[in-house]
Amino acid sequence: MTWNERRWDLYAPFYDRFIAFTPQRQRSLALADIQPGNRVLIDGCGTGLDIPLLPPGIEIDAVDLSSRMIHQARLKSTGLNVRLQTMDAQNLQFPDASFDVVILHLIIAIVPDPLRALQEAVRVLKPNGRIALFDKYYDGPGQPRLIRRILNPLMRAVATDINTRTLDLARQAGLRVTHEETALLAGLFRLATLQRQTQSPSSSA
Ligand SMILES: C[S@@+](CC[C@H](N)C(=O)[O-])C[C@H]1O[C@@H](n2cnc3c(N)ncnc32)[C@H](O)[C@@H]1O
Repeated sequence: MTWNERRWDLYAPFYDRFIAFTPQRQRSLALADIQPGNRVLIDGCGTGLDIPLLPPGIEIDAVDLSSRMIHQARLKSTGLNVRLQTMDAQNLQFPDASFDVVILHLIIAIVPDPLRALQEAVRVLKPNGRIALFDKYYDGPGQPRLIRRILNPLMRAVATDINTRTLDLARQAGLRVTHEETALLAGLFRLATLQRQTQSPSSSA
C-alpha cells in the first residue's frame, strides 16, 4: 500500500472533525445545476460530506481509493440511493458517457496524476456533462508566489498540492471552464464549473 493510500485510511475516522466547507460545497453543487433524474459521480468521495447536500431524485455513485473513507461515507448514505465502491480516480471502472455530473471536490490536487484523473472524469461524462470542481489550485500568470512554492512540499507530504494548474489540465482533458471563482482563504481554495466539450480535445482551439 502506498503512502497516498495509507494516509487517507489513517485520516478517515478524524476527517470530519477538521473538514466541512459546507457553504463552498453547496455553491459548487448549485453551479453544476444537478437536475432530477441525473446520474452523478462523487469521485474521491472521502467520508461522503457531499452526499447529504445532493438533491433527491438522482442516482449517485461514490468512489474512493480508501476503504476506510468508503466506510465513513456508507454511514452517511443510510436510506439514500448511493452506490459506494473502492476505486482509483485515475482508472474509473465505469463505461464511457455514464454520468451527467461528476463531483471533484478536494481530489484533483491529491492524486499522483491529476491530468489522468481529469481525463477519466471526462471519459465517464456524457457529452455536455458538467464537473463541479472545488479545490486548491493555481490559476495565475507566471509562477505561484514564493510562499506557495515554499509551503508546497510540506502540503504535498501531509495532504495536497496547492500549485496544480488544474484549469489548464482540465482544458487539456477536453473541458470548457464555464464558471470560476474564489472560494476561501484569499483564493487558495477556488471553485469552478467545467463542461465536457462535444468535440475531442485535440480538435479544440
Ligand atoms: C481531501 S480528501 C477529499 C474527500 C472528499 N472529496 C471531500 O470533499 O471531503 C481526498 C480523498 O481522495 C481520496 N483519494 C486519494 N487518492 C485517490 C485516488 N487515486 N482515487 C480515488 N480517491 C483517492 C482519499 O482517500 C481521500 O478520501
